[in-house]
Amino acid sequence: MYRTHTCGELRLSHAGQKVTLAGWVQRSRKLGGMLFIDLRDRYGITQLVVEATAPAELLAVAEGLGREYVIQVRGTVVERQSKNPKMPTGEIEIGVEAITVLNAAATPPFTIEENSDGGEDLRARYRYLDLRRPPLQRALALRHRLAQEVRSYLDKQGFMEIETPYLIKSTPEGARDFVVPSRMNPGTFYALPQSPQTFKQLLMVAGYDRYFQIVRCFRDEDLRADRQPEFTQIDCEMSFVEQEDVLETFEGMMRQMFRGALGVEIPNPIPRMPWAEAMDRYGSDKPDIRFGMTISEITPLVQGHGFGVFDSVPYVGAIAVPAAAEWSRKDLDGLTEWVKRPQVGAKGLIYIKWAADGSIKSSIDKFFTPEQLRPVAEKAGAAPGDLVLVLCGPKRKAQTQLGVLRIELGNRLGLRDPGVFAPLWVVDFPLLEWSEEDNRFYAMHHPFTAPKPEHEQWFYSDRKEDLERVCANAYDFVLNGTELGGGSIRIHNADMQKRMFEVLGIGPEEAEYKFGFIINAFKFGAPPHGGLAFGFDRVCALFGGQETIRDYIAFPKNNQGRDVMIDSPSRIDEVQLEELCIAIKEENQ
Ligand code: AMO
Repeated sequence: MYRTHTCGELRLSHAGQKVTLAGWVQRSRKLGGMLFIDLRDRYGITQLVVEATAPAELLAVAEGLGREYVIQVRGTVVERQSKNPKMPTGEIEIGVEAITVLNAAATPPFTIEENSDGGEDLRARYRYLDLRRPPLQRALALRHRLAQEVRSYLDKQGFMEIETPYLIKSTPEGARDFVVPSRMNPGTFYALPQSPQTFKQLLMVAGYDRYFQIVRCFRDEDLRADRQPEFTQIDCEMSFVEQEDVLETFEGMMRQMFRGALGVEIPNPIPRMPWAEAMDRYGSDKPDIRFGMTISEITPLVQGHGFGVFDSVPYVGAIAVPAAAEWSRKDLDGLTEWVKRPQVGAKGLIYIKWAADGSIKSSIDKFFTPEQLRPVAEKAGAAPGDLVLVLCGPKRKAQTQLGVLRIELGNRLGLRDPGVFAPLWVVDFPLLEWSEEDNRFYAMHHPFTAPKPEHEQWFYSDRKEDLERVCANAYDFVLNGTELGGGSIRIHNADMQKRMFEVLGIGPEEAEYKFGFIINAFKFGAPPHGGLAFGFDRVCALFGGQETIRDYIAFPKNNQGRDVMIDSPSRIDEVQLEELCIAIKEENQ
């Protein structure tokens, strides 16, 4: 046996016991002839002491230990003289009697402690060393716990975990596919799944009425803090259900996850918000409802006063920033520059300061009297002492910009506490999105999403305005301003599916080529069905109080989609290319 205990296990109650531990040397230091060594494994750190009076042989071994050496230690648990209340094992240390070096280690390129001195790139290159650090170990432990909660809940609810293939054909989630060439069928390619969407629907046709899978998905899209090219979904599908059944089932799952992993109770029921309200009040389809500062439309109050900027746009909206009337000119200029950045895209920012003494000053004093501005500020939800910020333009565009500004101010004012959890269902999404650029409709979710039954008459209309009005039987799960999951009730009838392809401008031949298998399957008794998928990496990160998902994935890619540890993607050799009948076109040719 290599060890009798882990490095996180021993307490004062073990004092006097002979123990054997194994782990990595985090650091060692000499104090008054004694040698103190911190021994680490994934359970914690235990302090070892080699007395100055120890046999010369033992002292020599102990003094020769470097950082990250793997050692086995025999000794006795003793009460510490100076206790460390911050460490679970801080009341004891091990009086060392023997040390065996199991493996020496090269000097690590950065410190492997709670906080490391290594830069991001260096740590990515030595990910296996970074993974030894407690914050990453806690992140992966949280991920493991959440996966167990998911499996236990869904199993109890009668869901079956079924795997679906990775070498498939293009899936309709809207990103670019990663493709894999087929050696046996030269010139042809598999696509890696952007999600198991079509397969889970085929499982419903096959009668497996409650399916789930914790599954890898692949999307070739621009990366952000909450996006990886390969990520994991908790993917679920149910038959004989309506939207209400799906929402209830997965509220239950979330509740168990929060309880089991964090001991947190979330609101019951989880609030629901129609998409249009989310856009109108929060300027986002994933509102952060932990704080107010919602958007109000002030168009009728400010038009017709001779101010061209307002008079020439269809929409003017405002948010009230609490207790910010005192913000300086410099603050406001900085904020104006901020909203003009391409990421926000506003042309300018108008402010109204409603001072605590009731006086009103604004950047539009030339066009409006204080008496005219007071009702505007009131409409924006302001009170004396507050600052009102105004943006205008096409309605959804201006609302989105106000939404981005709202989140930024929420961050600056410390209103987005990662320890507070505010879940929300966003419902009643539009089914279709018109693209001016391509002059066609796109599915807002994916082309298998059903219209709300009460909107079906518009779905079959040929008028663009009617089609724009159709709401989808779709829902997103939002937590603290992040979309954690989404799904829908599906189309289960071949005629309606055909109509959907027609609306999306996908001709019968293209539909047959891309989705013939599913259209065909629907002819053989498809049950009514629906489901959803959660982004598991995002769930883990938010539960851990972080916005970036990278630390919750054992071996993630960097922002360029590279794994710098294994140096991938990389070239393959000529023989492999030959076998695949692939020739590489050099960029400069
Ligand atoms: P959707 O495309 O909304 O739905 O994806 C579901 C959830 O997956 C997460 N997600 C990602 N996480 C990390 N990196 C990415 N690149 C990434 N892309 C998406 C998000 C998102 O909410 N088949 C449908 C679900 C269904 O209809 O049942 C689907 O994939 O948290």
